[in-house]
Amino acid sequence: MNDPLPLVVANLKANKTWDEVASWIDDVAKTATSFTGTIIFCPSHSFLASAFAKIAQNSINLKLGSQDISRFEQGAYTGEVAASQIADLCQYAIVGHSERRKYFAETDDDVMEKVKMLLVAKITPILCISDFKQLDTYIAKGQVIVKNKDKIIFVYEPPSAISGGGEFRPDSPQNANEQAAKIKERIGRGAVVIYGGSINPQNAQSFFRQENIDGGLVGQASLDSQQFIQILMAARN
Ligand code: PGA
Repeated sequence: MNDPLPLVVANLKANKTWDEVASWIDDVAKTATSFTGTIIFCPSHSFLASAFAKIAQNSINLKLGSQDISRFEQGAYTGEVAASQIADLCQYAIVGHSERRKYFAETDDDVMEKVKMLLVAKITPILCISDFKQLDTYIAKGQVIVKNKDKIIFVYEPPSAISGGGEFRPDSPQNANEQAAKIKERIGRGAVVIYGGSINPQNAQSFFRQENIDGGLVGQASLDSQQFIQILMAARN
């Protein structure tokens, strides 16, 4: 993984219209320019092409990510978006988010197929891990995870810590750090692990400061561009 650390991912989930996404990009552009890590912006699929054009035209230091991807290659799968269809726009894609499991019944097999599709399309998977049982299943299901550890961003994201648009209820930075260290041990040296769950401007620095945490996946607090800018500042310090 050659992306400069820390990695800060904005997961907008199913929020915002195009006009709001465009203003978000305008707001964050200046801070992004002086940011020495990597900022990965994940709006809804419908806005990826317009966001790509805007970012390129204005040379903004933002990378684009998809919030999900189909487990299938292009074909008769109504409503799906195949990895190969967004490979020109996105360098990253979130997979295995616990909301996909909870609301869309995604399984470990689905997640592993998605990882494979992304790797073929040369898109970096941002693979969410809820707990060690899940991580062990991923490892057991496919050599793909360990073999390609340098091409994957791992996210330690306990579902209990996700705000889900409600109250912030983060894990403790110390525990998150310990879990990130264990994931690194399990996957192998050099694995990049970020933390996700209720990161906000107040607690961001305490997570980014941890030795084994290489960045953050931010949901609710990324919706407000000013809060997201404060999180970027915390990541920088
Ligand atoms: P949150 O979401 O920051 O709102 O907890 C994180 C995520 O689900 O990716």
